[in-house]
Amino acid sequence: MRICMVGTGYVGLVSGAGFAEMGNDVVCVDIDKAKVQRLREGECPIFEPGLEELLARNIKARRLTFTDDTAAAVAGAQVVFVGVGTPPRSDGGADLSAVDKVAETVAANVQQETVLVLKSTVPVGTNARARRIVANAKHKVHVVSNPEFLKEGEAVNDFLRPDRVVLGCDADDTFARDIMERIYHPVCLDRNRIIWMAPASAELTKYVSNTMLAMRISFVNEIASLCEKVGADIHEVRHGVGSDVRIGPKFLYAGPGYGGSCFPKDVQALVHTAREHGLELDLAVSTHRVNERQKGFLARKLKSHTDGDLRGKRIALWGLTFKPRTDDVRESAALMLIDVLLTEGAEIVAHDPEGMQNARALYGDRIQLVEDQYDAAKDADALVLVTEWRQYQNPDFERLKTLLRRPLILDGRNIWSTYGLRKQGFVYEGVGVSK
Ligand code: UGA
Repeated sequence: MRICMVGTGYVGLVSGAGFAEMGNDVVCVDIDKAKVQRLREGECPIFEPGLEELLARNIKARRLTFTDDTAAAVAGAQVVFVGVGTPPRSDGGADLSAVDKVAETVAANVQQETVLVLKSTVPVGTNARARRIVANAKHKVHVVSNPEFLKEGEAVNDFLRPDRVVLGCDADDTFARDIMERIYHPVCLDRNRIIWMAPASAELTKYVSNTMLAMRISFVNEIASLCEKVGADIHEVRHGVGSDVRIGPKFLYAGPGYGGSCFPKDVQALVHTAREHGLELDLAVSTHRVNERQKGFLARKLKSHTDGDLRGKRIALWGLTFKPRTDDVRESAALMLIDVLLTEGAEIVAHDPEGMQNARALYGDRIQLVEDQYDAAKDADALVLVTEWRQYQNPDFERLKTLLRRPLILDGRNIWSTYGLRKQGFVYEGVGVSK
């Protein structure tokens, strides 16, 4: 199958390389010429485990190419996937100009009956909007909604072994259905994994999935605060609650609030869509509000141990990314903490296995970044764990005790809550752990 993937962000690049891996002939398009050149040379623009190898293998096999010429790429394809950005507008809605542009280019350049697949996260009604744009094209253009559910850090595996593939398409559109079945068959040998539905339902499914997961996290973070007040332990509560098969154990981990490029944006976008239709989604609104409050949690804890005065305090941060196995710092809890610490006059020494370059681009020399995690702790008044990277799981606590000026540890992910650190002489605080 000749596939064109427009947009080489997370979704576009992983999907493009994934489709090539299944033997398709894939051309990935991006308007950024320099990025296209780097990709052609096999350079992976993001840190994503397994992606570099996937790109290299498929570029070498000539199944995967890159171009900045959208018109030509679209003209030669049987299927055009749209994986361009849909950034939030100031009113909370999504900016769809890049999606519109692709649909217009498809309408002007198709050389054969084509399927246009919307993979970007787009609000309900975008499928219908794209149909209007391609309605008068020289050849018939079928529009399918195919939201992506991959997680950063696990993206390659999620793409090649999906839990489900959601496809929104007219029930009688056999042309589009046959093509999409062929494309996804290799990763969905068990056909039940392909879920067909109306386009509007597919569009909504994406936002509802992310909002539901975000809602679990916000709820568990609220309960963590209650645990601290009543002398309970969030681990035990999570274990007890998550053992009910109707609830399940996943996405019930308390922490410094959810971040990344998806949950914060998508919760807001769902609220916005509902408001456009005269509905107030109270639970989604609260999910966002609770998360904003939670992102201030680590700063509040720190202040409670420094008599509210952080001036001149040297704070060590372990972890800057919004979660492990990515270099992405967007909407990370670390950013909120850094902003508060800088405003309050603290000194920051931070370490992250992959996120330091992106943090440097944001803060320059206002924060100190160190290559060795232990160097961050040297003479620090506190160590704050923000992201649960594996290399932080089991550090040398004796060494930390000699390095830290004050043995204060704030564990924002509860990875050390069972280590008995208080007995070892640390002032230890987790999230929802009162022991
Ligand atoms: C999320 C969804 O999980 C994907 O299914 C979806 O495709 C993606 O958004 C998207 O819309 O593109 P992602 O943003 O990569 O994926 O990250 P998650 O693993 O979902 O984590 C999001 C945030 O929630 C992180 O900051 C993480 O630390 C936090 N989290 C997660 C918790 O605080 N507690 C948990 O129990 C789980």
